[in-house]
Amino acid sequence: MTTLGFIGAGHIGGTVAKLAAQHGYDVVVSNSRSPETLADLVAEIGGTARAAWAAEASAAADVAFVSIPLKNIWQLDPAPLVGKIVLETNNYYPARDGRIEAIDNESDTTTGLLQKHLPDSHVVKVFNHINWTHIPTQGLPAGAPNRRALAIASDHPDALEFARRFYDELGYDAVDASPVSESWRIERGTPGYGARQTVAELEAALRQAERAVVHS
Ligand SMILES: NC(=O)c1ccc[n+]([C@@H]2O[C@H](COP(=O)([O-])OP(=O)(O)OC[C@H]3O[C@@H](n4cnc5c(N)ncnc54)[C@H](OP(=O)(O)O)[C@@H]3O)[C@@H](O)[C@H]2O)c1
Repeated sequence: MTTLGFIGAGHIGGTVAKLAAQHGYDVVVSNSRSPETLADLVAEIGGTARAAWAAEASAAADVAFVSIPLKNIWQLDPAPLVGKIVLETNNYYPARDGRIEAIDNESDTTTGLLQKHLPDSHVVKVFNHINWTHIPTQGLPAGAPNRRALAIASDHPDALEFARRFYDELGYDAVDASPVSESWRIERGTPGYGARQTVAELEAALRQAERAVVHS
């Protein structure tokens, strides 16, 4: 069984942890505080789910899922994540995160920042442009007409492959927005951000994206 280690168990992390457990993953959740603070979530997930300190969740993970405010990614310890696939959902909201120069001057992307902080991990962007309330409700079986598509972006083929399979299990098609340097095309404010789109629609949205909006 694959263990998914969740770093951040708020709206997105907690929601995806529940779905992952329902799809047969072993789940370890963590937040910025102590494992006891996640007792209610662990009870809700049920099964073999458990809470841990963030460093322990990273160490226990076969694959990690980082879903914390972007401003906090530099607090993560890279060591327990070395050699691992790291799914990440981060977005840039200056009102929450402060101004981040590398995004503002278009020299990097949100996923690129985490990949640089975790140079020996295989980082892949997932679930960043779907509202957390929609993740459990908008999934459809493979082949269903109008199945929603979600973007993935990574510089690592194994991470892309894992993310594509995980989306499919949870009810979504994948559109590859790689490489990481181009993943601004699905950051905040772009045509694909938040909209319910099929593969063809999301591909068109990625082509139409303009970079200035993501740091406006
Ligand atoms: N909400 C959405 O619909 C949505 C959709 C797509 C993407 N996103 C993006 O996904 C990220 C998470 O969003 P969210 O809405 O899930 O946020 P959230 O509900 O505020 O949850 C954030 C989680 O991160 C934890 N955390 C913060 N710093 C940490 C650290 N250093 N180590 C471990 N855990 C830490 C928090 O723990 P504490 O509770 O202890 O503070 C909390 O569990 C953001 O970048 C957001 O922009 C959000």
